[in-house]
Amino acid sequence: MSQRFDNKTIIITGAGSGLGRAVAVRLASEGAALSLVDVSQAALEETRAEVLAAEPATNTTLIVADVSKEDDVKRYVDQTVASHGRIDGLYNNAGVEGKQNPVADYGTEEFQRVISINLNGVFLGMKYTLPHMVKQGSGAIVNASSVGGIRAVPNQVGYGASKHAVAGMTKDAAIEYGQYGISVNAIAPGAIMTNMVKGSLIQIGGEDGWEDVGREFVSVNPMRRFGEPEEVASLVAYLLSQEAVFINGAVIPIDGGQSQAY
Ligand SMILES: NC(=O)c1ccc[n+]([C@@H]2O[C@H](COP(=O)([O-])OP(=O)(O)OC[C@H]3O[C@@H](n4cnc5c(N)ncnc54)[C@H](O)[C@@H]3O)[C@@H](O)[C@H]2O)c1
Repeated sequence: MSQRFDNKTIIITGAGSGLGRAVAVRLASEGAALSLVDVSQAALEETRAEVLAAEPATNTTLIVADVSKEDDVKRYVDQTVASHGRIDGLYNNAGVEGKQNPVADYGTEEFQRVISINLNGVFLGMKYTLPHMVKQGSGAIVNASSVGGIRAVPNQVGYGASKHAVAGMTKDAAIEYGQYGISVNAIAPGAIMTNMVKGSLIQIGGEDGWEDVGREFVSVNPMRRFGEPEEVASLVAYLLSQEAVFINGAVIPIDGGQSQAY
C-alpha cells in the first residue's frame, strides 16, 4: 500500500530529542527518507535507533550541525541533496528555551543565543532549502513557533521574541513562495512534555518541586493535561503531506485550547 511519504525526503532539525524525534518516528512509519540534524551526535544516534525500531527500512542520514551557524545550515542542506537528491519537506524545529529572568535581568548574551538558534536558525533553514524546492516546483516547510509566539510568557523575553518572529517570517515566506507550489506554515505548541518543558519546570520549581509546578500549570489548560509529542507529530506530518497543500501561511496552535483562554 502506498504511504503519504513514499519517495519523499524530509529534513528535521533538532531531531535528537522531543518533538523532532517524535516527528522522525512518525514520518518514517509513513515511508519518508530522513535527514536528521542536531548538535548532538549521541542524540541523533538514539533517534535513529528509535526510527529503525519503528521502521527498519528507513533511509536515514545523520548530520551534526548547529542551526545558528550559516555554514552548518548550508552544509546540512547540501549533504541532504547529495545523499537523497531532493528535499520535499523541512521541519525547522531546533530550538532552546533560554534561562528565565524578567527583562532587566535577562542576560544580553543569553538573549542573543536564544535568538540566534530559534530565529536565525529558522531563517537560515528556509533560506537554503527554498531554492531546491523552487527548482522542484514543490515543497513544504513547518516552522517551530509556540504559544509563546502568540501570547506572552513571563521571564522568557528571548524565547517570546524569537517565536513571535518565527510566526512573522512564516507568513512572509508563505506569500513569497506559494506561487512555486511551496507551503510554509508554523505550529504553535502549548506545553508538550519533552526535555525542554521539564527543564523549564525545573527552572521554576527546582528538582524537587517541578512536578507540582507542572500539575499547577496544566490545571488551567482547558484539557487539564500536557500534550504528547506524538500529537504534535501527527499535525506536523499532516502539514508536510500532500493533504495539506493549500494550507499556507498558517500559525496553528496545538495546545488543548490554552491560547484561547484567559
Ligand atoms: N515542548 C514544548 O512544549 C514546546 C512548545 C512550544 C514550542 N516548542 C518548540 O519545539 C521545538 C522542539 O522542542 P522540544 O520540546 O522537542 O525540545 P528538546 O529540548 O526536547 O529538543 C530540542 C533539540 O534541539 C537540539 N538543538 C538545540 N540547539 C540546537 C542547534 N543550535 N542546532 C541544532 N540542534 C539544536 C537539541 O540538541 C535537542 O535535541 C523548539 O523549537 C521549541 O521551542 C516546544
